[in-house]
Amino acid sequence: MDAAAMKDEVGRAAAAQVEPGMRLGIGTGSTAEAFIRALASRVSDGLRIVGVPTSERSAKLCAELGIPLATLEELPELDLTIDGADEVDPQLRLVKGGGGALLREKIVAAASARMLVIADGTKKVAHLGAFPLPIEVNGFGFVATTLAIEKASGMLGLSGPIQLRMAGEKPFITDGGHLIIDASFGLIPDPEALSADLNAIPGVVEHGLFLGLASSVLLAGPDGLERLGAP
Ligand code: A5P
Repeated sequence: MDAAAMKDEVGRAAAAQVEPGMRLGIGTGSTAEAFIRALASRVSDGLRIVGVPTSERSAKLCAELGIPLATLEELPELDLTIDGADEVDPQLRLVKGGGGALLREKIVAAASARMLVIADGTKKVAHLGAFPLPIEVNGFGFVATTLAIEKASGMLGLSGPIQLRMAGEKPFITDGGHLIIDASFGLIPDPEALSADLNAIPGVVEHGLFLGLASSVLLAGPDGLERLGAP
């Protein structure tokens, strides 16, 4: 089974878990898009739900496919968020933000009673950190913020290239109008300490460590689906 087929399989399995009347956080990325397509098929068969998308990109796809949408202002409490991830560890801690939507993804996940993460099995890791950690920063003073990130991570024994994410010749700009810094720290032994230290830097808007947010994870592999966490 190729990667696209695995994403379709886990997307369909996630859509099957959506119940009538749910207020649903809808994630971003290629796996979330497989879920959106499977959800749209259920909606066209009569399933009534309302979705809150985590990016302009996902909002556009949902609208094209006829999924009813609301804003988080209209629906500030959600039943379930279904989203992808770049890395998942055995404690269901995540690295997210490869698609640049981490801020809205984290706000929506935090507003949800449950978060189901969907991914192909390659995203399962023993320790977080092989995937560069996306850090969303304010454009004002971003060089000073980058230096502060280097200093704070260095105090935790972390080092490695920290790069401004580009989109061609220009910096990548998030839906919130911010920049992304990708930090290739390698293995992150204490994600909670790094999270707290990054959150203490004024120019950091949010970072891609999702700790204590995922309730369960569905992973697609060549031998079928694997579930981590609560059913
Ligand atoms: C978007 O910002 C990300 O958090 C995605 O959820 C993550 O990068 C996974 O994307 P894929 O499903 O495309 O691998």
